[in-house]
Amino acid sequence: MLAQPRGGSWPRRLRRRIALILLACFMNLQAQSVDSEPRIDALLARMTLEEKAGQMSQSTSMRSPLSEEIKEQIRRGRWGSFLNAGSAADRAEAQRIATRESRLGIPLLFGRDVIHGYRTIFPIPLGQAASWNPELIRQAARAAAREAAADGIHWTFAPMIDITRDPRWGRIAESLGEDPYLTATLGAAMVRGFQEEGLAACAKHYAGYGAAEGGRDYNTTWIPERLLREVYLPPFQAAREAGVLTFMSGFNALNGIPATGNEFLLRRVLRGEWGFDGFVVSDYESVTEMVRHGVARDAAEAALRALRAGVDMEMVSTSFYDHLPALVRAGKADPKLLDEAVRRILRIKLRLGLFEPEAPPATASIQPLEVARRLSAQSVVLLKNRDGVLPLPKGIGKIAVIGPLADSPVDQMGTWVMDGRAEEVITPLAALRNLLGPDRVLWAPGLKNSRDGSRAGFPAAASAARSAEAVVLFLGEEQILSGEARSRAFLGLPGAQDALVEEVAAAGRPVIAVILAGRPLTFSSVASRARAVLYAWHPGTMGGPALADLLFGNAVPSGKLAVSFPRTAGQVPVYYSHLHTGRPPAPDESGIPTGTPVEPKGFTSKYLDVDVTPEYPFGFGLSYTTFEYSNLRLSAAGVPRGAAITVSADIANTGRLEAEEVVQLYVRDPVASVARPVRELKGFERIRLKPGEKRTLRFSLSTGQLAFYDERMQRVTEPGLFQVWVAPDSVRGVAGSFTVR
Ligand code: GLC
Repeated sequence: MLAQPRGGSWPRRLRRRIALILLACFMNLQAQSVDSEPRIDALLARMTLEEKAGQMSQSTSMRSPLSEEIKEQIRRGRWGSFLNAGSAADRAEAQRIATRESRLGIPLLFGRDVIHGYRTIFPIPLGQAASWNPELIRQAARAAAREAAADGIHWTFAPMIDITRDPRWGRIAESLGEDPYLTATLGAAMVRGFQEEGLAACAKHYAGYGAAEGGRDYNTTWIPERLLREVYLPPFQAAREAGVLTFMSGFNALNGIPATGNEFLLRRVLRGEWGFDGFVVSDYESVTEMVRHGVARDAAEAALRALRAGVDMEMVSTSFYDHLPALVRAGKADPKLLDEAVRRILRIKLRLGLFEPEAPPATASIQPLEVARRLSAQSVVLLKNRDGVLPLPKGIGKIAVIGPLADSPVDQMGTWVMDGRAEEVITPLAALRNLLGPDRVLWAPGLKNSRDGSRAGFPAAASAARSAEAVVLFLGEEQILSGEARSRAFLGLPGAQDALVEEVAAAGRPVIAVILAGRPLTFSSVASRARAVLYAWHPGTMGGPALADLLFGNAVPSGKLAVSFPRTAGQVPVYYSHLHTGRPPAPDESGIPTGTPVEPKGFTSKYLDVDVTPEYPFGFGLSYTTFEYSNLRLSAAGVPRGAAITVSADIANTGRLEAEEVVQLYVRDPVASVARPVRELKGFERIRLKPGEKRTLRFSLSTGQLAFYDERMQRVTEPGLFQVWVAPDSVRGVAGSFTVR
């Protein structure tokens, strides 16, 4: 509602005018959507089968400068879209040809992987997720969209909202972590951010891709429908509800049926249950890969299977164009399916305004580098800070900066970076030299890169450590070890990094470890040697200044893990929202007793050689201050189904620094017709408290949020007792309980 003027209400005539303006805006929006269907009908009526199949085809074969062949193909409507190809000038030229020199003048749609930034690179999504800050993430998406749209990009293949609980999988870097509620909330924020700035978003990879067996990319996924609907689909439904314009079907076979040929996913759920009216693009050649999957004899059959399942646009492989016109003419493919697919594609092109290019929407200005610095700082997770060694005093003498990742712009940006500029990256080394002055920063890479097994650089590193008052040791993974097709069976620090830690620790100075990686790693040797550990993911263009701010207290760590950290790869999958089982292990029950052959204790679900709990749990992150949670109270002891209950608790800053905390709300249904997880995230809020300040937080919890799929796959909320926590992470917190009647 418009704010009323001071001292009273708007004069009547002005109220009428405002109402007329609002009505006109509404009509225009409606008209636009209503207007698009007749326009599409008219175009469809004129299109040949080849032109329809052309609209359904996306190519990556545009090169600079445009070849005569590509220009000719565009003129005859061979392609509806290009991805990751050409320059801004090429795109402008191609668009001119498409709209001025082709028979129907249908504009091209230019797509690109703008996953975590275009020119300004933000932290990888797994790092952004650790900020638990949807508003800031939306700002980052807006900034990325503006930069991309300015270069003639219309569409990004993001957000990637695959739930994954397997750090062996390289694409965990692109994900928003293990939890459906957090991923749904943050993924929707990205969709809004991209699309507010006119960049179509793409919910991918629909669906279940992150459950790849063995953490091996592109591998088989087996996901029972209850798990699919309760864990893997909610982020996609949230994206749909946020108005995402496109979906991308995944590479993976889901329960034996490739996602790209999966009618259950693409028609029954996406269109039937969720009413999605945008279009679905396949993943890169995932249509013809159905031949390799063994569900299509040849490319023609793959094209037919994808079309029937509900894929509208084929990425890179050419089976739609090569075979669908002939299949229609042979009476083997229903021409209505082509019309349906082309209609969806044209609908999105119209919604994006491609037919009548206009000035980009006038939205609030954004400072990309400022947003990047803030988001990088909020994504870093403080995992350890013994004796409050951090923040380092600004008056400290010399510090030694050691490790190749302290000064590696490309690695710092992380995976899926196409347009980021290494020369614009500010590395931690540069930022620390800038903050302290170059004389106070001793630099020794120690290794050439994260995989380097040579100790040749160790003496210089040890010497730097001995000459300093404190050591900031940068460890982790290079960019090329992270992302698509980058699965790892071992999660330890690559190369001779562990040995470097020993060498540096031997100097006897306090060691602060900063880990840059695209996944949870196992680094217990570092954690035992270092006084403090900051997990910085791949923090992007402004990772250096953000880390310098955190190391010296200009910013206070507030990140919380969006994924559980295993103690060893053998523990995977380990995640917080697990079932209780019939034989849960007692706390710290694992471990093989030494000495006389004593029977390991208990027949319970444990390992003999490692504790079953994660090294660091989901939602965990420390601060430079301390927070106290107390006094959980409920608005009622019980509520009827359909009602809501308010959960309140007090959070106090009991330390000496002002800081932010992400307060989390978890529930558990201890007895139900289907076993329910020991905890499930149902809300969170980031708050800022001054030293000594105490605040009451209130969460409203509807009984609908307690629903699950019962034995008949009906979504139900069952009456009974529910436990609830207001917590700093998925393990601790103040508890209470209530009943649903
Ligand atoms: C890749 C990825 C997908 C990406 C597409 C275009 O193989 O699976 O996430 O958007 O191809 O680059």
